[in-house]
Amino acid sequence: MNPSRRPPAEELEHPLILGIETSCDDTACALVDGGGRVLASAVSSQIAAHRPYGGVVPEVASREHLRNWPAVSREALLAAGVEVHDVDAVAATRGPGLIGSLLVGLSLGRAIAFGRGLPFYGMHHIEGHLVSPFLHPDRRRAEAIPERFTGLVVSGGHTSLLEVAGGRVRSLVETRDDAMGEVFDKVGKRLGLPYPQGPRVDELAERGAGGAYRFRVPRIKDEPFFSYSGLKTQTLREIEALERDGALPAPAAGDGEALPAPALDLLAAFRRACVEQVLDRVRRLHRSQPIGTLAVSGGVAANRLLRRRLAEWARRRGVDLRLVPLEFSGDNAAMIAFAALTRLGRGDAGDPRDLVVASRIPFTSASEAA
Ligand code: KG4
Ligand code: ZN
Repeated sequence: MNPSRRPPAEELEHPLILGIETSCDDTACALVDGGGRVLASAVSSQIAAHRPYGGVVPEVASREHLRNWPAVSREALLAAGVEVHDVDAVAATRGPGLIGSLLVGLSLGRAIAFGRGLPFYGMHHIEGHLVSPFLHPDRRRAEAIPERFTGLVVSGGHTSLLEVAGGRVRSLVETRDDAMGEVFDKVGKRLGLPYPQGPRVDELAERGAGGAYRFRVPRIKDEPFFSYSGLKTQTLREIEALERDGALPAPAAGDGEALPAPALDLLAAFRRACVEQVLDRVRRLHRSQPIGTLAVSGGVAANRLLRRRLAEWARRRGVDLRLVPLEFSGDNAAMIAFAALTRLGRGDAGDPRDLVVASRIPFTSASEAA
């Protein structure tokens, strides 16, 4: 990110919130003003540190957060053109995520808030993703968040449909096994693609034809859930079959440029099946409780086919679709600061000395609440 000019005083609205996000493998710091303008959103990816292992190693992630924080926070403040003493409140992710990683960000946030006597918000990571589609790039004001909306969060750890009403979140549909991003990563890893494999699988799938394979959308009558592990296993078996038949050489580390057409076709079919499952669950939900606004977020919300298919569906149904801007789809701290801003009016800041991290923080599920 390039350091940019300080916004003119009349442009900056208070409260100014410092956001911190370290729940997994991205070290992120952001400054968001009272109008929901993202003045700066710095994200230091740990891709290089985890790449030799093909995935995130929790112990490596915590150490990298500690190492990255000084530079990331400096970069964010510089880009925003503000100083720490301009900040009015601090927000950090308290879960869900990797405990060691969460501890780094939450402890930093608590220390800054306590030291400066500022309100502190320990945030649910998914609360951040849920509001991220209402953010704008280029320092523009955020959209007003509707009183009620449906959130679709698709990432490496989550595949969820949630209902948000009056700031309360209720889970409607969850995955029973793997998350969508996780299976993109695993399929890509099996083909020797470098971590994180999801974006690359998406790119390669654009070049294939999905019609060569028929993957079923898993369904149990009247029971809403996502499930991706069956599709993952079938896809891995098809990769094996291609290798056995000599249509695909044994995996060699590479960017996938050399993958033959049958492998690209398989990736296209795999991606299509992943996306069709999302469309199926969204359609069913819309039939039982019509969706007014659908806000789509999380790393996998960058998926090209998912964006196209949801846009088509929403246009036909007259649903107000909010696709997260690409720069806020992956983990970032702007969404954490913005989510805290929405809580500010309700006065529910916590005491920075009390808050603890949690690897899992479930929302009430629709079935529990019924
Ligand atoms: O939200 P995120 O940054 O972190 C989590 O909270 O998980 O999401 C990261 C996930 C990874 O699994 C990554 O491979 C996946 O999102 N991802 C994609 C795409 N871009 C990122 N998966 C499919 N298609 C993409 N274009
Ligand atoms: Zn996330």
